[in-house]
Amino acid sequence: MPLEKYQYMSNVWRDGIFDNKVVFCTGGAGTICSAQVRAMVHLGADACIIGRNVEKTENMAKDIATARTGAKVLGLGAVDVRKPEALTAAAERCVKELGSIDFVIAGAAGNFLAPMDQISSNAMKSVIDIDVLGSWNTVKATLPYLIESAGKHKTDGKTLPPNGTGGRIIFVSATLHYTGTPMQSHVSVAKAGVDAMAMSVAIEQGPRGITSNVIAPGPIADTEGVARLSKSEGRDKSAKAIPSGRYGTVKEIADATIYLFSDTGSYVNGEVLVVDGGQWHTSGVGGRQWEYPDFLLAGAPVEGVAGGKKSKL
Ligand code: COA
Repeated sequence: MPLEKYQYMSNVWRDGIFDNKVVFCTGGAGTICSAQVRAMVHLGADACIIGRNVEKTENMAKDIATARTGAKVLGLGAVDVRKPEALTAAAERCVKELGSIDFVIAGAAGNFLAPMDQISSNAMKSVIDIDVLGSWNTVKATLPYLIESAGKHKTDGKTLPPNGTGGRIIFVSATLHYTGTPMQSHVSVAKAGVDAMAMSVAIEQGPRGITSNVIAPGPIADTEGVARLSKSEGRDKSAKAIPSGRYGTVKEIADATIYLFSDTGSYVNGEVLVVDGGQWHTSGVGGRQWEYPDFLLAGAPVEGVAGGKKSKL
């Protein structure tokens, strides 16, 4: 369904900043990644989105193409990121039909909620294979093109890059592993690996002009992830416990993407950009005797404990 611009990007970006560029995105038919790609397309890029489901991927490609008149968006279905040869073929086709790969979003992921005693080795392997190996396969399949693009789009931070930016990759990760998250051991392990991979790409390929970063979204409203991993009746309460007081939007992940891929992100390399309204910082406040954030907002003193306030300041 075609979207209003403000549903997938802010108004601060200039049209045309990604003219003549191509973004290659795994998991591109998903709710978050499709917004990232749609924003890039709106700002001038052509795109190739990769997915397992043929119909979903092809339909999403057509839909994303409505973001800009004349945009070319390829939807390559039946591509499983666990199969390196399938990704290599997809990257080759992308370059043959669209001319280059300047930006990569490694977004394909697998997730479900289960405690580790209910997760078989095969289930663990599925998630590791999709997230870690899939991201690795994505890097391997696209790196030669990213290096080529990086060589053409060097930035020195002092002069306006005449042909814009290129040679950049973003891995879509999570915050689960920062503190540990119950029922998410498999994904926590996988995303820690993805983060490590992004840093390795930055260190090894940075000297060739590549930037490699992670975006770690928190709970983003109306996404497949939230639908898969949370009950609808608990969402208001969990939103309230986020410092920013609400779930994020796909637009806010797309904005972070444009920041990292455009000239604004030229000197950001090997970093994790957490876009979660401050959520992961509050993982220690759940289950306490003082409800977050009501206790803080009420301004009441801590009472009934030996460590409470003893006298007026
Ligand atoms: N709890 C425990 N184990 C589960 C599970 C669950 N909810 N869902 C699947 N599994 C297990 C299966 O039982 C199987 O293990 P087994 O062989 O020991 O029985 C294993 O995971 C593989 O399942 P299968 O359905 O064959 O794998 P798949 O490769 O088709 O799917 C998944 C991979 C399991 C990650 C699936 O959830 C998926 O396709 N997810 C993609 C979409 C997604 O998760 N996006 C992320 C949005 S946040």
